[in-house]
Amino acid sequence: MSECNGLISLDRVTKRYEEAGVERTVLDEVTLDLGCGEFAVLLGKSGTGKSTLLNLIGGIDTPTAGDVRIDGRSITKMSDHDRTVFRRENIGFVFQAFNLIPMLSVLENVLMPTELSSDPRKRKLGKERARDLLDQVGLGDRLNAYPDRLSGGEQQRVAIARALSSNPLVVLADEPTGNLDAETGKVVLALLDQLTRKAGKNLIMVTHSEEVVGIADRVLHLKDGKIVG
Ligand SMILES: Nc1ncnc2c1ncn2[C@@H]1O[C@H](COP(=O)(O)OP(=O)(O)O)[C@@H](O)[C@H]1O
Ligand SMILES: [Mg+2]
Repeated sequence: MSECNGLISLDRVTKRYEEAGVERTVLDEVTLDLGCGEFAVLLGKSGTGKSTLLNLIGGIDTPTAGDVRIDGRSITKMSDHDRTVFRRENIGFVFQAFNLIPMLSVLENVLMPTELSSDPRKRKLGKERARDLLDQVGLGDRLNAYPDRLSGGEQQRVAIARALSSNPLVVLADEPTGNLDAETGKVVLALLDQLTRKAGKNLIMVTHSEEVVGIADRVLHLKDGKIVG
């Protein structure tokens, strides 16, 4: 049995940006609840605020108004420091551009989130998990390779292992197959599905893949600052 405690709750979340003195509302009082282990796919045209929404859920960014709660805790009300620690321990990110650290080996990249923990037990567990996850994504024999020696698909598999290394509640994937060919994209999607959803974690994915839409529990459409349909 996988534990289930990832719950995402957005209460009238608004995000406005000011550009050259003009205010633009990208997200307009978005209210949303995602249950334990739900897999939601987020759709919408380019520039509708999909990345903005993921960044608010992941605590990379903060809303102009409204509240974001993860597992019952308001990340909006946390200090920047507390939110950073919370994010490191509870949220895994997978980006379109992989975002691996070039100076670090495959293993070191995956160790990063747990190495920063102040809890020695978490650091030790992190080491075991990192190797195990890299085995699961099929890169157990590339631990000492550097990112520039890996193909795009391999880099994204490392990024998936890194996103899961702290055993987060929530995994956020922003167009994770956007830089990959169709075949490689399928492998990456299958791994994300297997390692997140089947482990009882919440997964929110921005994607244009019809296939993903077919297997998601929830399909969210972002349009004019609102979630519709
Ligand atoms: N830091 C920022 N400052 C000003 N405008 C921004 C900023 N980040 C995003 N935006 C604007 O917010 C809108 C939504 O962006 P984004 O969330 O990246 O859209 P999507 O991921 O759906 O393509 C865009 O119009 C973008 O230009
Ligand atoms: Mg985006």
